[in-house]
Parts: sequence; structure tokens; C-alpha cells
Amino acid sequence: MKGIILAGGHGTRLHPITRAVSKHLLPIYDKPLVYYPITTLMLAGVREILVISTPESLPAFRRLLGDGSDWGVTFSYAAQSEPRGLAEAFLIGADFVDAQPCALALGDNVFHGAGLTGQLIEAGNLTDGAAIFTYKVHDPHRFGIVELGADGNPISIEEKPQTPKSNWAVTGLYFYDANVVDIARRVKPSARGETEITDVNADYLSRGKLRVFQLPRGTAWLDAGTTDSLLQASLYVQTLEQRQRFRIACPEEVAWRRGFIDGPQLRKLGDALNNDYGTYLASLLDSD
Ligand code: TTP
Repeated sequence: MKGIILAGGHGTRLHPITRAVSKHLLPIYDKPLVYYPITTLMLAGVREILVISTPESLPAFRRLLGDGSDWGVTFSYAAQSEPRGLAEAFLIGADFVDAQPCALALGDNVFHGAGLTGQLIEAGNLTDGAAIFTYKVHDPHRFGIVELGADGNPISIEEKPQTPKSNWAVTGLYFYDANVVDIARRVKPSARGETEITDVNADYLSRGKLRVFQLPRGTAWLDAGTTDSLLQASLYVQTLEQRQRFRIACPEEVAWRRGFIDGPQLRKLGDALNNDYGTYLASLLDSD
């Protein structure tokens, strides 16, 4: 499974903070926001990642992430000049996808909680159909909404419905089989001028090929799109990290635990950071 991180957009809800810097490079407590969805993909077993952002922001992403070899992954980069919709990721990334299964993670979505890794590994092994992750919300008209049957299978999917059929919102994490580029190519822009990922998901649903993972109530799904949600995400991470020994969404740690890098490489990464983050990386080797 390959993966795309979609980290473009204007971040208008965060202006003026995001006038000169991409939202995805802002800190969520102790690491840049984009580390969180990258770690989500890595937990799913994804090692080849395409980062899509605006032409202005791409140099900063390259400076931050490099070619990925430090973490035992590969990063490549592509530009989206305007936020023309989530499904456009598969048109921009068609050559990268190269007729293989591919996941898509929105660059501002933070997932955390017990049981998540198991679901991610399952989704990462998908070769036929699509899988989406849903979360129960109290304000469903703001989201893509899935109606579920008693067996947990999806019945309908609608983008920002006026009369929502359920409270299960589609989150910014999607897994697709090798057909996704062809399906995305057929999607027409919606009334708001975007190629909607909901239309891609509806195509899989119409063929009985859409699997829905329901995130359990003990998990957190945060999108750092507003000043409040940005601060809340930082406080959430700070609270958990200070109570426990473990850091949330630390890509170096995940790379090491998943066997993408070995112990000496983790120590090298830790030594290169003369701060608590570096000390934490080294401490993983000493305590395991
Ligand atoms: P949005 O929250 O819809 O857009 P935004 O981040 O630009 O914020 P705002 O509404 O404040 O202007 O996007 C969700 C995520 O998807 C975010 O990480 C940006 C990304 N995105 C793209 O990279 N390209 C796109 O075409 C769209 C629609 C979103």
C-alpha cells in the first residue's frame, strides 16, 4: 500500500497564522502537525509516501522531511496549485500510484487511541475495494456522513447533508485498491467546484466494495483546522504525553517499532536532537 498526504489548501480559517506558513507545519505540542498523519500511514504499514502541498510550501516540506531515508520510508513531492478537492490527489499522484493500492490521509487530521493500530494494519492490507474511517459526531451536517445498516455495512454516503441520516462522519483517512485513479478521473466537480472524495467513496459503495471502520468512542479524531482545534490538539497531546512515558505520533519511534529502521539509526536520530525529543528516542532503546 502506498500513501498520499494531502497538505495543500489555504488554511483560511487560521488566517493570519497561515498566511505565510502552511497549517501542516504548525506545531501540535512537540511536533509539526503533518507528523501525525504521516505516522498514521506508517502505522498502517505504508512506506512510500507522496506529499502534496502548495507550490509555495513544498520547499519547507522538503526541508522538514527530506527523502524519508532517515525513517526508512520514501517521500516524494507534488504540487497542487489550488485546493480543487480531495479526489484531485489521485490525479496529481496518478504516476506515483502506478496502478497499486493507495491510501490518502489529510494533512490536518490527528488520530489517536487504543485499538487504532489494529484497524490501520487491517486497512493497510486491503487489495480489493475501499476502506474509510468514521467517527461519531454531534454536528453531522458539517461532514461527509455514512448511513450504516445493522450489520455495520454502509447504505448511503452524503457530503454535508442538510438532513443527516446518521452521526457517523467520514474522517480524513481513506484506503483504496488499484482502481482509485480511474474512479477519481471520472469524478466531476461539485457545486462548490471541488472534486469530492465522497463521489469516489460512493462509487465503491455502489459496487458493494466500501468497508467502514467505526472508530471506537475511546479514540480521538481531531482536525487542527481552527484556532480552537489547533490549541485543543496541542493540549490533548501534552496531557497524554506528560501522564505517560510515550509520545504520540513520533515517526522515528514508529519507524523503529515497525522495523523500518534499526536501533543504531534510532540512536543516531536521537543524538542529532539536543533536546527532550532526542532524549526520548534514545530512551526507547535503553528501556526495551
Ligand atoms: P480544508 O479544511 O477543507 O481546507 P483548508 O485546510 O485550506 O482550510 P480552510 O477551510 O481554513 O481554508 O482541507 C482539509 C485538509 O485537506 C487540509 O489539510 C488541506 C487539505 N486539502 C488539500 O490539500 N487540497 C484540497 O484541494 C482540499 C480541498 C483540501
